Amino acid sequence: MRTARWAMEVFVTRRIPAAGLRALSEAGGCTVQQWDSNEPVPRAELLAGVAGKQGLLCLLSDRIDKEVLDAAGSGLKVISTMSVGFDHLALHEIKKRGIRVGYTPDVLTDATAELSVALLLATCRRLPESVEEVKNGGWTTWKPLWMCGYGLSDSIVGILGLGRIGQAVARRLKPFGVKKFLYAGSHPKPEIAAEFQAEFVPITRLAEESDFIVVTCALTPETQGICNKDFFCRMKKNSVFINTSRGAVVNQEDLYNALVNGQIAAAGLDVTTPEPLPTDHPLLSLKNCVILPHIGSATYTTRNTMSVLAANNLLAGLKGEPMPSELLL
Ligand code: DGY
Repeated sequence: MRTARWAMEVFVTRRIPAAGLRALSEAGGCTVQQWDSNEPVPRAELLAGVAGKQGLLCLLSDRIDKEVLDAAGSGLKVISTMSVGFDHLALHEIKKRGIRVGYTPDVLTDATAELSVALLLATCRRLPESVEEVKNGGWTTWKPLWMCGYGLSDSIVGILGLGRIGQAVARRLKPFGVKKFLYAGSHPKPEIAAEFQAEFVPITRLAEESDFIVVTCALTPETQGICNKDFFCRMKKNSVFINTSRGAVVNQEDLYNALVNGQIAAAGLDVTTPEPLPTDHPLLSLKNCVILPHIGSATYTTRNTMSVLAANNLLAGLKGEPMPSELLL
């Protein structure tokens, strides 16, 4: 029988892949309480569940703010989020309390980049609309002017946020014959950009010159609402806008107007505000807007790996050891 040298209690806010939960239970010394459902934990259950715990394993859909931290109490040592994004965590409060944070970068880069490319192609080549036409009898014959879209060949692609995922997107798009990559962000990254001969430009130039814009930046106070009326007005009329980062980077009303007024050709969104997007949301009435339910990292392998990494971050933090992926506050 294994004797635990330490005894910690953790709260897991959702049903996660079995591999992640196994990593926690096999660690020994770690008692797991879980909201064992595919649906989000109700706020009251979260507040009750976290009370007195040393560890919290959460998801991007859980808002971890002062109220949650107060409910947890002073014993909370580690928060491990099963996501690369951490805009749902009140980092200032967390840091003040000396709580360590784990997250899951790298392991979802490929899956998210792949989905970004899939969404871009689905949007610019009008795949959902075309599938619909086959089903509803709109496909009457081969028509020279029907269902035309825009191709990547010889195009200019603008990446907003040339981080891990932005780079992986550029790497995948390059073989499609992209003529030039532009990128915008907080600072130039010459070594990284060299792989794609990508040019660092102000966001206004990125909007004006790109045929395709892919948003892969993190949501921060600086990027919140950065894709707004001014941004869309600068974009070309035949350009396509893709967002796989966070919904709040985009002013959705401005995007809606840009799509309705023909200011841009189309948009593909894997992320929205709010999530889920209400089924009667105006964006869902537009043929030139393809919306997915935040599935960037949704491959079986990636989600398993994310859950194990989140578990290992939590365990390492509880033991006071270096985490595999710690967010340095
Ligand atoms: C993340 O991890 O932040 C992605 O948005 C979902 O995997």
